[in-house]
Amino acid sequence: MDVIVKPDYRTLSETAARLVARWSLVEPGSVVMLPTGNTPKGMYAELAQLAAAGLIDFSSVTVFSLDEYLDLPEDDERTFRRYMMRHLWNKISPGPAAWHIPSSRPADVQAECQAFDRKVAESGGADLAVLGIGENGHIAFNEPGTPWDRTTHVAELAPQSRRGEAERFGGVEHVPKQAITVGVKTIMRARRVLLLASGEAKAEVLYRALKGPITTDVPASVLQLHPQLTVLVERAAGAHIG
Ligand code: GLP
Repeated sequence: MDVIVKPDYRTLSETAARLVARWSLVEPGSVVMLPTGNTPKGMYAELAQLAAAGLIDFSSVTVFSLDEYLDLPEDDERTFRRYMMRHLWNKISPGPAAWHIPSSRPADVQAECQAFDRKVAESGGADLAVLGIGENGHIAFNEPGTPWDRTTHVAELAPQSRRGEAERFGGVEHVPKQAITVGVKTIMRARRVLLLASGEAKAEVLYRALKGPITTDVPASVLQLHPQLTVLVERAAGAHIG
């Protein structure tokens, strides 16, 4: 495991963008899995700038989003689909060769999960998976207790995860109860993993994930077993792991 500590959010974001570029934009035909949340917003802004300057190009890259809420209209601003449009795809041209994200309102949820797995398999699997971490240790929406042999599946969101999103949804009662997420198995098959964490609120869980026991109680702890893991953290988040 490589741990890179950056002094602030700006340098974390710059470094994240450069690593994504180096690991997935140089070799044509790469496959990359990308996260949502607050943490990667700066990385996306940086990638958009590099693309606008003509320094990087997504046109041969296949992108998979890690997860999507269920039971929201696809064009709802709070979906991860719209998040990716706002933070990256609306800002770059040409866009990626392909971008796959589960529907937030599929006709058949199980079929949607299977179709996503099929697309991942057809792509040859991810060269790089970029991840954030939830305060309860979730990666994508693999919540505590999720078995590690899952591929794409429907997740019941943990109460803590739903409370964390309450503001964005105008009250916890409006936060979706379920999401479609890639599983731990899918993430662990990525040839390289980049885990991002920023802010003091992540320091405790990051310590448990990287230095504590490997347990499904802390989903991110499975990453200790990944052969090519890079952890990129802002100093405040890395307070206990340095
Ligand atoms: C989200 C996503 C995760 C993300 C995590 C942390 O809801 N499902 O993929 O990594 O929660 O988000 P943030 O970066 O906002 O703390």
